[in-house]
Amino acid sequence: MNTVMEQNKEWIDTTWEKIDKKLSRTAVKSRNKIPYTTIDGAHDDRSGKDIAWWTNGFWGGMMWLMYKGTGNEEYRKTAEHSEELLDGAFAHYEDLHHDVGFMWHLVSGANYRITGNEASCNRNLFAASTLFSRYNIDGDYIRAWNAWDGDTHAGYSIIDCLMNLPLLYWASEKIGDDRFKKIAMRHMDMSLRDHIRPDGSVNHIVDHELDKVGVKKILAGQGYSETSCWSRGLAWAVYGSVISYIHAGKEEYLEAAGKTADYFIEHCKKTDYLPVIDFCAPETPVYYDSTAGVCAACGMLEIAKYVPEEDGRRYTQEAINILKACDEHFCNYEENEDALVLLGSERYPHEEADFKGVHIPMIYGDFFFVEALFKLKGNDFLIW
Ligand code: GLY
Repeated sequence: MNTVMEQNKEWIDTTWEKIDKKLSRTAVKSRNKIPYTTIDGAHDDRSGKDIAWWTNGFWGGMMWLMYKGTGNEEYRKTAEHSEELLDGAFAHYEDLHHDVGFMWHLVSGANYRITGNEASCNRNLFAASTLFSRYNIDGDYIRAWNAWDGDTHAGYSIIDCLMNLPLLYWASEKIGDDRFKKIAMRHMDMSLRDHIRPDGSVNHIVDHELDKVGVKKILAGQGYSETSCWSRGLAWAVYGSVISYIHAGKEEYLEAAGKTADYFIEHCKKTDYLPVIDFCAPETPVYYDSTAGVCAACGMLEIAKYVPEEDGRRYTQEAINILKACDEHFCNYEENEDALVLLGSERYPHEEADFKGVHIPMIYGDFFFVEALFKLKGNDFLIW
């Protein structure tokens, strides 16, 4: 164990125990739901008409991590049930989108890799084919979202999509068809060119030419402005880039992960390791996004494994700084609240309607906090 881990062992062990105590209860209590947030402390449920909602894989994925980390069968039962509920999303092809990686790779992909379940493998391959089909050959990007407000938005790519690429890397390996991996790498290369800026900050949405390679416009998306840096978008870049490095081995991906992580750390320090929604927004009012920190911390823990030792210690320590700040200020271990990580934010609020998504629990905050502690406990299963 390296010295940073040794110095933090007591906190890591205590925090993992508190997580297990809380989640072993909610795993049973919320077994028939696919939660996104909580209402008056109780998990909501996206398993009905909202079954295609992009976050619907995080609950099952978190259950698989807890099962791997503890061996408690109750987690496995909940994970398996959430996978059955998720089947409803396959019934409406047109509702599916670029986030099928988040939805299935964490649930069916994890199930197959942990238990060898063939039905899960099949589901994950269908999801991978859906993502594969969204690649625009002429424009050289994987298309985000579907049409809304009378516009196809067919030229949009978003930084978030880096986290869907592991589904393609997995499918490529599984069926021995390297076209899946090539498309993942083409999209990653596009992000190095069009999303990740030279200083390590990122563009959220890029609107591409449809019939040739080229950028028409950069859009603010969920951040403060088109020239600012949405912190969760940056976290997707940190973790997404190092995951692509792990699966594809291209040095530039590790460099991008390091560069985006350094930008994240430098800016997150300014608010005591509690990330704000956008690192370039006005200093007040302060709006936090806990989900950005926990996702970026997971990325930093992976980067630490592939860089020289001293840099590795620095990334591990910075990840722990973020996680400890989250534990102290954002976590709730009480029984009267089903969510673990509070104060997540959907987007920078510019309009009155946006405020309902500011400082709320979101299931992926819980997922990445759990994943980070799972890593710190020494588990080497990479769910991505
Ligand atoms: N991928 C959507 C979001 O991060 O809000």
